[in-house]
Amino acid sequence: MIASRVFSSILNSHHRLSFWWFSLLFTVTIAAEETPITRIAFGSCANQSAPQPIWDAINNFDPQLFIWLGDNIYGDIRRPLTVIGKERTFGPWKNTPRFVPSSEEEMKLRYAKAKANPGYSRLQRKVKVIGTWDDHDYGLNDAGKEFDRKVTNQKLMLDFLDEPLDSPRRKQAGVYASYTYGPPNRKVKVIVLDTRYHRDPLRSDGSILGDTQWDWLEKELRGPRSEITIIGSSVQVISNLSATTGPLFYMESWGRFPKERKRLFQLISDTKRNGVIFISGDVHFGEITRYDCSVGYPLYDVTSSGLVQSVEKVFPRPLRSIVRLLFWYTPSTMRVINDNCKFKSCTYGQQNFGAISIDWNANPVIIRLEIRDVNGHTVLGTNVSLSELQPGGSNSLKDATTKGKSQRYCTLEIELPGLIRYRLAVLIYFTIAVLAMAILGLIIGGVLAITACVYKCKVD
Ligand SMILES: *[C@@H]1O[C@H](CO)[C@@H](O)[C@H](O)[C@H]1NC(C)=O
Ligand SMILES: *[C@@H]1O[C@H](CO)[C@@H](O)[C@H](O)[C@H]1NC(C)=O
Ligand SMILES: *[C@@H]1O[C@H](CO)[C@@H](O)[C@H](O)[C@H]1NC(C)=O
Repeated sequence: MIASRVFSSILNSHHRLSFWWFSLLFTVTIAAEETPITRIAFGSCANQSAPQPIWDAINNFDPQLFIWLGDNIYGDIRRPLTVIGKERTFGPWKNTPRFVPSSEEEMKLRYAKAKANPGYSRLQRKVKVIGTWDDHDYGLNDAGKEFDRKVTNQKLMLDFLDEPLDSPRRKQAGVYASYTYGPPNRKVKVIVLDTRYHRDPLRSDGSILGDTQWDWLEKELRGPRSEITIIGSSVQVISNLSATTGPLFYMESWGRFPKERKRLFQLISDTKRNGVIFISGDVHFGEITRYDCSVGYPLYDVTSSGLVQSVEKVFPRPLRSIVRLLFWYTPSTMRVINDNCKFKSCTYGQQNFGAISIDWNANPVIIRLEIRDVNGHTVLGTNVSLSELQPGGSNSLKDATTKGKSQRYCTLEIELPGLIRYRLAVLIYFTIAVLAMAILGLIIGGVLAITACVYKCKVD
């Protein structure tokens, strides 16, 4: 807007200037006027039917940009969890799907509800809002390319984001997009990926992005330079929690598609794109992870989830400290552990949003990566110097290469020794076994006591 005001004032006072002179002035003016991005907020998993107090904290953070990372609404219908009865939605004997898509009309109502939230409307009025989707706003839990309502739902999602009617994004298959902000030497590129529209089935180790989106991504990464490139993915890129929570439960992530993940890192490396930072959502807790042995510099993944849905909310209050204890107990090789964490595990299982602050005036430039709570307080945070995000730019990386792959942030979760990797499952199965034995003991004891009594009573 500032640029266009200057544009018209120049036009008025210098209308006789040659076109050449004018366009030169115009370019210089824009470069001088465009403000650098210093504050970005992002988040995921917002249940439109529940209260959303988090928007106050986000508005107070005063971001210049907000990025949706998926589950922007819960569009599908979730049936109750039942293990017995006519309609069973859980267990190997289940006969009814737990999630079903809702009608187009219902999707529209849910988006309208999300958009009308006062806190979100306030944000949307003053800040640029962009984003991608995940499964529940795509239309169905864990769905991929096979989902038959994706064309309709893409339109609804782009309507929600106020995408212009003539936007090319409305003509392509999938909602992936890219944006560049800021003046030269302070450019921030934001790429949002579509991890749903073209995704092969889970456990196929097939594709997440599909060929067209891969070609597009390569062009984007080879394209004009930017100091920082933020890549938004609905599902986690770095953390492969499934490797340590299996066989109890599995989560969606790039880690579940190892070939595709390798291809992503290879592409970043091949295109020599520096300053890449991932942001992600989906898992209903916040964490910051980094992987130092993929592209020649540390790749960070800041996961914020959810704006509304959170792991701890599912449990009654007294059990929440047990949830935190289990988080701490589950091994993770990539999670950033430092003194800025509210809880010892350095995960955060309550409502949160992600915040990136860039100090362009510091030398070297400092990027602050944070997860903030519903009051706007930092619950996880780390400072990264932009000079670290270049090949050979990080001391820890040099250490890592000399000390070998045993270094923290280099070991894959699946490379952990079995007893450590599966210690959560061992603990849970052990506890269940002890409980089962205790119950069995009580039953046997009870039966013996009754038999003894019956015998004694008869004698008496
Ligand atoms: C969303 O919130 C409503 C109201 O609290 C609740 O009934 C519903 O189950 C929630 N949806 C999900 C997917 O958790
Ligand atoms: C992530 O964990 C899953 C489940 O254990 C495993 O199949 C997969 O290979 C892992 N991916 C990576 C990149 O380590
Ligand atoms: C991180 O950066 C912020 C702002 O750029 C600064 O206020 C803070 O002191 C830094 N923290 C650490 C631990 O360096």
